[in-house]
Amino acid sequence: MQLEHALLEVVLSHSNEGIHMVDTSGITMYYNRTAATMDGLEPAEVLGKHVLEVFPSLDKGTSTLLKVAHTGKPIVDQQQVYTNVKGVEISSVNTTLPIFGQEGGLLGAVEVARDISGVRKLAEQIIDLRRRLHSEDPAAKGEQGARYHFRDIIGESLVLREVLARGALAAHNASPVMVVGETGTGKELLVQSIHNESMRRNRPFIAQNCAALPESLLDAILFGSVRGSFTGAQDRPGLFELANGGTLFLDELNAMPFQLQAKLLRALETGELRRLGDVRSRKVDVRIIVAMSADPQQALRPDLYYRLNVVALELPPLRLRKADIPLLCKHFLNRYNSRIGTRVQGVTPQAEKMLAAWPWPGNIRELSNCIESCLNFRSEGLIEPADLPEHFHKSPAEKLLRPELNRLEKDMIFKAMNRTEGNTSKASDILGIPRQTLQRKLRKYKWHETCINNEQEKKQEGK
Ligand SMILES: Nc1ncnc2c1ncn2[C@@H]1O[C@H](COP(=O)(O)OP(=O)(O)OP(=O)(O)O)[C@@H](O)[C@H]1O
Ligand SMILES: [Mg+2]
Repeated sequence: MQLEHALLEVVLSHSNEGIHMVDTSGITMYYNRTAATMDGLEPAEVLGKHVLEVFPSLDKGTSTLLKVAHTGKPIVDQQQVYTNVKGVEISSVNTTLPIFGQEGGLLGAVEVARDISGVRKLAEQIIDLRRRLHSEDPAAKGEQGARYHFRDIIGESLVLREVLARGALAAHNASPVMVVGETGTGKELLVQSIHNESMRRNRPFIAQNCAALPESLLDAILFGSVRGSFTGAQDRPGLFELANGGTLFLDELNAMPFQLQAKLLRALETGELRRLGDVRSRKVDVRIIVAMSADPQQALRPDLYYRLNVVALELPPLRLRKADIPLLCKHFLNRYNSRIGTRVQGVTPQAEKMLAAWPWPGNIRELSNCIESCLNFRSEGLIEPADLPEHFHKSPAEKLLRPELNRLEKDMIFKAMNRTEGNTSKASDILGIPRQTLQRKLRKYKWHETCINNEQEKKQEGK
């Protein structure tokens, strides 16, 4: 128990997230260093005191901690912008959870706060920069936005050509487009090509990766905000407005939370949007193109999925169009020869066979990296098997066996560790391997994390 307590203390005090816990009367029972830094205070100024005594700007109605300690209902992912006592503006995303005792009675509440000031500042700077770029130099629009054209997409295979033909056709109308494909299959290339083929080619092309920002920020960045919509919010157009007349590319759309997906669908259907906190709607004329590597039917709300599925383009993985490999090799050889200053002419038949046998999980990007890597070992002539990266030389059986072996090994090690209750010397005796080897493997298989998860599960069961 004491050990458990000490562990908790170490973990909580080193957390990158601010942690603040109060009992039902509002007295602070725990307050870590990160929370103190965010608030511009010392832990000692807060511990043992009532929340409203330390934060006089709050009251019973506005303090999320007091609210949750009173109602027992969690408040999840709430965005907050406030100026701390040192005058520093802090943006955070907070989750406040009730704490219940063994018998189910409410004991208090804990708030976990993630400081997103840095991300937020960067995101806003990017918006401002984009806005300046678009307003100052209309000619630069095309260049800074979409660089690629259909002619840059290499490949003669039927499966690829068919997708490209449909893409080129779709480019001429304004329907939303959904591009799906594994990583490295050229989704970005295709999306930019569609924009450059469309009537909107001289208008903005703006891309946003939906996985890059927390939900509340993504909302404000896409749709804009008005002063006062949340504390610290400025009048700012969102990317939708910046892309007006052009194309907005939402990459990794599968990472967009469902609530925001609903808002996106509304904008798609009405052609109107409302900035965060605004009362009036604004008309926008934006073509939406989305991309993802996940299965869209699983990742998207059904209504949004059906709206986007009208023009769905699925880029085939490289292993299903191996006929394109020689052409792509030539293309990348040209590129890297001139970049590195080598004069490699091509690939020997044996090496070509090995390239054709490889499953290419990283697709075209992986092939591009592979060719670049070969040029480290050869400056002229033809690429030979020996120039190919190491994993090409493992036998297929070995490749198939490796994950299976790892699983078995992990299993045996964890069993031994459980049997010896975490004693590495005893476990290494049982397994017949040196202790250092065991420790290395424990790190590899993340034994430590599994332990913490188990502990948490046990605790939850105890509640
Ligand atoms: N058909 C192609 N012809 C030439 N280059 C290609 C082709 N497809 C992809 N590439 C190149 O491969 C790399 C990866 O492509 P891209 O960034 O478009 O992939 P992606 O599908 O968006 O991948 P991710 O899901 O990882 O973002 C880029 O350097 C791109 O130029
Ligand atoms: Mg991409």
